[in-house]
Amino acid sequence: MALITWTKEQYGTNVTVCDDEHKTLFDKLNKLYDLATGSAGRAAVGEQLDDLIGFVAWHFATEERLMQSKNYSGYTAHKAEHDKLVATCVDLQTKFHKGEADVTAETGAFVKSWLDSHIPQFDMPYEPSLNG
Ligand code: FEO
Repeated sequence: MALITWTKEQYGTNVTVCDDEHKTLFDKLNKLYDLATGSAGRAAVGEQLDDLIGFVAWHFATEERLMQSKNYSGYTAHKAEHDKLVATCVDLQTKFHKGEADVTAETGAFVKSWLDSHIPQFDMPYEPSLNG
């Protein structure tokens, strides 16, 4: 069963590019979760971890570019949230590739919980500005 399933009710921002990127991000997270909690080897998990983190950085850059282009007042606080998660991801990525950390079910639960909080609290409020 998927770790996280995109629904308009729970995660829709009504900004098409952001919703599309969130769906892709969820797919990549689900794939990582399945690999990490299944019988996949460490190389496959590492490859998917890198792919997910690369996409997260891409998505955050998309939102930050759009917010800046509209002079969105919530930009600074929103970017700070992004920067904190990226730092956590890069730390895990570095440790994973050194063999000092693993991707676990708890890792997946942490990212899901972050998204459950971040999308409603930080992403949804930018809609009037980004679509304005
Ligand atoms: Fe969709 Fe602010 O992350």
